[in-house]
Amino acid sequence: MTKFKNLLVTGGCGFIGANFVRYLFEEAGFKGRVVNVDILTYAGNPESLADIAEREGGRYVFVQADICDREKMAEVMDKYEIDAICHLAAESHVDRSIVRPDDFIRTNIFGTYNLLQLARERKDRIVRFHHVSTDEVFGSLGPTGAFTETTPYSPNSPYSASKAASDHLVRAYHETYGLPVTITNCSNNYGPYQFPEKLVPLMTLNALEGKPLPVYGDGLNVRDWLYVTDHCAAIWTVMNRGESGRVYCVGGRCEKPNIDIVNRICDDVDRLAPPLENGQPRRSLITYVKDRPGHDWRYAIDCTRIEQELGWHPAETFETGFDKTIRWYLDNREWVDRVRSGAYRQWIDQNYTRR
Ligand code: NAD
Ligand code: TYD
Repeated sequence: MTKFKNLLVTGGCGFIGANFVRYLFEEAGFKGRVVNVDILTYAGNPESLADIAEREGGRYVFVQADICDREKMAEVMDKYEIDAICHLAAESHVDRSIVRPDDFIRTNIFGTYNLLQLARERKDRIVRFHHVSTDEVFGSLGPTGAFTETTPYSPNSPYSASKAASDHLVRAYHETYGLPVTITNCSNNYGPYQFPEKLVPLMTLNALEGKPLPVYGDGLNVRDWLYVTDHCAAIWTVMNRGESGRVYCVGGRCEKPNIDIVNRICDDVDRLAPPLENGQPRRSLITYVKDRPGHDWRYAIDCTRIEQELGWHPAETFETGFDKTIRWYLDNREWVDRVRSGAYRQWIDQNYTRR
């Protein structure tokens, strides 16, 4: 049972945020109120939670706002008597951060600082500030070993550097002001509602449509994959039972080279969708392209702490989670078409007005 009554979720219209809000109502049995603040960048889609909004009535509130807006965020925290914060809002795509870091610095660093400052001013009411962070803050691994909570920070991209900065601010607000914080550093997630610029949805949709599959470098970079709902369960576990001031690494113990993921997607789409017009297998679409600058070679997480201290374990295997994910993108063409076309903006204009 949770002690939180009014939970502020930032970035709840993004990939993990939407899955997290869904998890709270559908799996965690959360009985309080969720206030989802999201500015709705290209990556935020309120339609991902349209059914929840309808079903949960006043227990789910959506506010379109910028986490960097001090006045607006203060108003939200007070109006809804926020007593816990799960902070997910961020610019999240490494390739975009390489081309244009500005929004990453603003949202990920200044936005986090803004929320911390507001939480600090409401310390008598706010019992938990949870920061959802990434394993990318630790930099890149060689062929052996895994990141743990004591691995030194060594971020290599503007994205990971901005997340590292925000982690440090969260930690500092605990040490300096006694704010009750927790941080999770999680590996790569896969699952439904991910914007199709990230590896899994991009490759799935390109494979379906017979478009080239752009694999960076030699395709041998390794990521540690976790099904998104298992990440949501880890966040909720840490928020409720994690020790204040403590950091928890979260991962799937599921290391895969990128090319294995892409080959697997090709084979799944061949099996589940009509064949390509030229009759070739989808693996023929794989195109090796110029590597991403500063491309981290390998990530792997040792999640012993959260397993042993809090009893968290993933519920999905790679087999079960990946299969569900590929099917979801094939079965939810309407969602895909709308996020890709930007047509969902019309839906937003009809359903919400920015105050
Ligand atoms: P996402 O890009 O899908 O969603 C981010 C959401 O934040 C969007 O809905 C966007 O509209 C919103 N947002 C952006 N700027 C905002 C602002 N200024 N004010 C309010 N809302 C704003 O990202 P995601 O993949 O869901 O990641 C969520 C969090 O989890 C991020 O903090 C990310 O660093 C972290 N994370 C992601 C992964 C992963 O594999 N995707 C792994 C570990 C950690
Ligand atoms: P991505 O989904 O962007 O996540 P991250 O960079 O945060 O790990 O990419 C996952 C891996 O896939 C990463 O090693 C980069 C690689 N990749 C490609 O090879 N081609 C692509 O088109 C994309 C988007 C990623």
